[in-house]
Amino acid sequence: MKIAILPGDGIGPEIMAQAVKVLNVLGEQFDMETADVGGAGYAAHGHPLPPATLALAKSADAVLFGAVGDFKYDSLERSLRPEQAILGLRKELGLFANLRPAILYPELAGASTLKPEVVSGLDILIIRELTGDVYFGKPRGVRECPDGPFKGEREGFDTMRYAEPEIRRIAHVAFQAAQKRGKRVTSVDKANVLETFQFWRDIVTDVHKEYPDIELDHMYVDNAAMQLVRAPKKFDVMVTGNLFGDILSDCAAMLTGSIGMLPSASLDASNKGLYEPSHGSAPDIAGKGIANPLATILSAAMMLRFSFGKTEQADRIENAVKKVLAQGLRTGDIFEAGTTRVGTEEMGNAVVKALG
Ligand code: NAI
Ligand code: MG
Repeated sequence: MKIAILPGDGIGPEIMAQAVKVLNVLGEQFDMETADVGGAGYAAHGHPLPPATLALAKSADAVLFGAVGDFKYDSLERSLRPEQAILGLRKELGLFANLRPAILYPELAGASTLKPEVVSGLDILIIRELTGDVYFGKPRGVRECPDGPFKGEREGFDTMRYAEPEIRRIAHVAFQAAQKRGKRVTSVDKANVLETFQFWRDIVTDVHKEYPDIELDHMYVDNAAMQLVRAPKKFDVMVTGNLFGDILSDCAAMLTGSIGMLPSASLDASNKGLYEPSHGSAPDIAGKGIANPLATILSAAMMLRFSFGKTEQADRIENAVKKVLAQGLRTGDIFEAGTTRVGTEEMGNAVVKALG
């Protein structure tokens, strides 16, 4: 179990230290190796994704990633900016499936803008296809409009497309994830209007034949957006394309109201993955020791579950997080009157202690 530890910049190193501490007390034989990435990569080696870091990520079985994007690097040209590191890693490692759980622990129900009874206990998983769709389809650009009422005027255009194998592999990820959870998949599309997503619906339906233990339903994306804010708890696993997934996963994240709590995973075809908190490098609070490390700790739990098949250890970490929340410990981002405010390190130590 070789793990590439890439803390990054901003709050990255602070939150990563807590996740490493948690991994170290599980009693497993992890081979953890750390490398610079993002702003830290640029500062030490002149590039956000130095060759040695990429080589380590490729040779590891999983990557645990902190965050990148400190604004002190904002003046650099685009190819040297910290954010290029994460885009480069996704591409180089072939990470096509983005898994974003949206979980709202009952203790934090007050953090959501929605009524507690609508969101309390929410536990859904959004799976977004990450390397296809209109984001990468060609041709694209700005041209002279070839026909219609605006013929001869300028127009911007992109191409929405999904190849059958791309749909098949993301559908397998969704059905297999559902087998480890509530056994239900909702495939989100726009089959009523888009050829690409009628094809998507047909292929997902076909892949479903291999998973008789899973219940599948199809939903149009506009309805899915409504249902996510009306009755989000009725979903288990949602699977969708790159564009719809980008929007729906951010919407689902905000149902929980606490960006510091949400982990994520990006997987390739062999379940090798990159695991990272859903939030960024939070430069406004970096170096102050107050960032919430729980999203990173929960990302480590996802790594154990999805890349290493260590379900029990993943459950142990998730239960330890529930325990510290039940004890009333809160970092600033989830603080409410009547709870105990703690810093990054204290929170990490509390999780270690709760692991027993
Ligand atoms: P952000 O997620 O870094 O911060 C948004 C707000 O949430 C800030 O007020 C921040 O203090 C707070 N916050 C975030 N994580 C927190 C935590 N663990 N504990 C407590 N508070 C937390 O998003 P923002 O400000 O839009 O972006 C900052 C930088 O991060 C940018 O350079 C952006 O490009 C980058 N970024 C990097 C990502 C990555 O590494 N995968 C993802 C998203 C943004
Ligand atoms: Mg987004």
